[in-house]
Order: sequence, then structure tokens, then C-alpha cells
Amino acid sequence: MTLAETLRSIVGPGQVLVDDDLRASHETDWTGRFTGLSSAVVRPATTSEVASVLAACCEARVQVVVQGGNTGLVGGSVPPANQADCPPVVLLTTRLAELGRVSLASRQVTVGAGVTLAVLTAHARAAGLDFGVDLAARDSATVGGMVATNAGGIRVIRHGSMREQVAGVEAALMDGRVISRLDGPAKDSTGYDLGHLLAGSEGTLAVLTRLRLRLTAAEPERAVAMVAVEDTAAAVDLLAGLRAALPALSAAELCFGTGLALTARNLGVVVPLEGMGGAYVLVEVAGEADPLDDLLAALEKAGQVIDATVASTATDRARLWALREGHTEAISSVGVPVKLDVSVPMDRLAELVERLPTEVAGVDPAANLVIFGHLAEANLHVNVLGASGNAEKVTEAVLALVASLGGSISSEHGIGRAKARWLGLSRSQAEIAVMRSIKTAFDPRGLLNPGVLF
Ligand code: FAD
Ligand code: MLT
Ligand code: ZN
Repeated sequence: MTLAETLRSIVGPGQVLVDDDLRASHETDWTGRFTGLSSAVVRPATTSEVASVLAACCEARVQVVVQGGNTGLVGGSVPPANQADCPPVVLLTTRLAELGRVSLASRQVTVGAGVTLAVLTAHARAAGLDFGVDLAARDSATVGGMVATNAGGIRVIRHGSMREQVAGVEAALMDGRVISRLDGPAKDSTGYDLGHLLAGSEGTLAVLTRLRLRLTAAEPERAVAMVAVEDTAAAVDLLAGLRAALPALSAAELCFGTGLALTARNLGVVVPLEGMGGAYVLVEVAGEADPLDDLLAALEKAGQVIDATVASTATDRARLWALREGHTEAISSVGVPVKLDVSVPMDRLAELVERLPTEVAGVDPAANLVIFGHLAEANLHVNVLGASGNAEKVTEAVLALVASLGGSISSEHGIGRAKARWLGLSRSQAEIAVMRSIKTAFDPRGLLNPGVLF
């Protein structure tokens, strides 16, 4: 039997896509920057099918690229460009769509790795709870992809990143074995925590098939404001004041005039507070009771506010959030950006924002810089448009600056293929050696997500 025949016998003939037009959308990433060739896209529906697909590929020594919603922004979910002679198989997880019963006692739920964030959130809310991580790609991003990248998003300030939500995992190894710690007791100190090790592993160690996730209390009432401040340093000071005054602060996002203008144009709306500030902070407070008065009082007290627009209705809140969440699509609407997701110690954020334009112009004077991010984690999304011919040099310059400020070259998107060359800027040689040993222990033949991370 050929590998394709074996794969069809495992998942069914209709679940092995080999035609060019059916594979195409799985071979290019969301940004359009990363493209490769696959031999087939395989869509298993159960853990045992995933395990058998992996075992068959392992036996045939064929590489496997794991893909969930394909919303990743570092090229990790698509085949490498340099592998046309022996194209990998893309293993698509979206049919792993099981939705377990929400346990109100443990505030946990077990779901398939292919469940989207939007479906998980709706499932939790229907049970009177909520899910703590949220991000703009919610309709496509899968929980498996989110754990694999240790995704962050807009509510990290309140609930942490994806790793913190993981109570247990089930995963299939490249040789077809399955490891499962889904139903164990809530407290467990029996050695290495494989679930947390797989969080952030970007599909290089195993394929996550099911996840046991922590849920949070519902906080149905929300108030949102867009605040104009003098500059990034003032935004950081404002954050400190708001954190002290508002224990239920659920988001603090950073925008600038250029990104807001681009996003407003793409959405066909006007920019609130246009030209009023050197930086803008979108603030959200959540709770069981209406938090609007608390937010107004905190803004009144905060010294850094030049002006603010406050949203109390659902429509107005959505309008302000669209201006923040619409940045990614607005940027992509004008070109393929070099996207760099970085963070620095909070007291270096203003310096990073100030020095970026000079660093980027030094490489490519014609490039356009659009920055925004998650203020509470000093996590800046650096997008460079019009510099695709200089992508590597721009990446080098920005990441070197971030490293010199004591920062991380990937705050929440992962390393993927985009930043693999620069891992050494954030991790020591000793750490990388240990990470490589772990990779070898899980995947001795190096067949899973080759070229990602290392
Ligand atoms: P994919 O893109 O399919 O894969 C991402 C990586 O995970 C790949 O390396 C892949 O091999 C691996 N992987 C996928 N599924 C599995 C699995 N089951 N087992 C093992 N490995 C797997 N990210 C943030 O962190 N915060 C944000 O605020 C945010 N906002 C975004 C907004 C937009 C508009 C877009 C397009 C993206 C955004 N992202 C954000 C990036 C992206 O949504 C996240 O990285 C998300 O976690 C990817 O999920 P996915 O299912 O699409 O994974
Ligand atoms: C976001 O916070 O909106 C993202 O992580 C997406 C991006 O960086 O474009
Ligand atoms: Zn982000």
C-alpha cells in the first residue's frame, strides 16, 4: 500500500485531500507570507485516527505539519518552502470537535483540540461560566493551536495565557503512542507536567487531541473606554493607576494614531479622539454588577488622561473593540507585513516604542511601521509594511533591539518558522540544548513540524 492508501484506510477516502485546489488554503498561512507544498491534507476525527496517521507517516518516514485554524502568525502551521522534493503531510485537527459536559464543581471542561475558541466560549457561557482567554481570531483559532502556541490575547491581565488554563492534556506521539492525563485529580505532583510542557511546543513534540481546560466565573457586565494619553510612558503610568483602582480590570490595550487611522479607514468609521494623544489605551472592566461608575471614577482620578470616550452600551463597546481588534486585518489589507510579536520589561516599553522607527528606517527607509499591543504585558505587535525584500534584515534589527532591552522575541505568537533563526536571542545555549533533547525524546526521527522553533 502507498502512504496515501494507508491514510485513506485510516480516516476514510473523503478525508485525505490531494487535489491542488483542496490543499491550497492549508499550504499558505494567514498573513500570506509563508507558503509550502504538502503531499496531502489529512483530517482525522478521533484520537485513535490521529495516532494511526502519525504511526503510518513515522513508518514511511514522512514529515507531518500540524494545523488547527491556520490563524498562527509565525508560519508554523504550514509546510516549509524548501521541501518540494519530499512534501510533508498536513494533519488538520478541525474534526476533533468533541465538546464535553461542563463540570460546575471543578469548573473544567474536556474538549477536542479542533474546537474553536468561539465554540468553547459559547459552551462555557451556556453553562453559566466563561473561558478566560480571548482573541480576535476566535471564530477560527482552535484550542489545540492556542495551547500549542501558548496564546495570550486581550484578557491575560485578568486570567493569564493559555498555559494557565490547561488542567490536563491528551496527545498523540509521532510513533503512534498516546499520552493522556485528562481525568486525574485536581492536585497532582507526580513528576513532570507534560501538559504544561506541550503548551508552547508549537506542534514540535506531539499532536494535542483533547484538552481539559479551566473555566472562569461569568462576568457579564462590562464597561469600555478609549483613553488618549501623551505617550507610551503616560500609558504605562495610567495602567499602574487603573490596576490599583480597578481590581476587575479585564483588558488594557495599547494603540497609536497610525494604526487607529488605518483600522478606521478599513472599517469605514471615524477615529474617536483623533489627534488628541501620542498613544491610546483601550480599557475594559468586567464584573457581575455594572462596572461603569468604577471605571469613570478611576479615569477621573488618573492623572494621565488627556481625553476619553466611554462606552456603556454593547454597540458602543463593540465599536471601540473593533478599532483595536481590527488592526490585524487592516494591516493585511494594505500589504504582507513582516510581523514581530515582542515584549520587554514594562520600564523599557517607552524606549522600545521610541527607538523602533529609527531601527526600521535604518534597514529600509521606505518601510511603514504600524505598532499596537497588549499594554498590561508590555507586549508590542510590530508590523513592518513595504519591507518584504528586507524581511530578514528588519527582523534582525527589531529582535536585536528587543533583546538589548532585556525582552522576549515572542510574547504570544510563538517562534514558528519566522523567528527560528533568532531563538538564541531569548534562550541560552544550555536551554536550547535541553529543548533539543526533549524534542528528540518525543520525536526521535525529527518528523513533526520540521523547521519550527529550531
Ligand atoms: P494554527 O495556526 O493552525 O497553528 C499554530 C501552531 O500550533 C502551529 O505550529 C501548529 O503546528 C500548532 N498546532 C495547531 N494545532 C495543534 C495541535 N492540536 N497539537 C499540536 N500542535 C498544534 N494570538 C495571540 O496569542 N493573541 C492574540 O491576541 C491573537 N490575535 C490574533 C488575531 C488575528 C486576527 C489573527 C489572525 C491571529 C491572532 N493570533 C493571536 C494568532 C493565532 O490566532 C494564535 O496563535 C492561535 O493560537 C492559533 O490557533 P490555530 O488553531 O489557528 O493554530
Ligand atoms: C492581536 O493582538 O490582535 C494579535 O496578536 C494579532 C496581531 O499581532 O496582528
Ligand atoms: Zn496580540
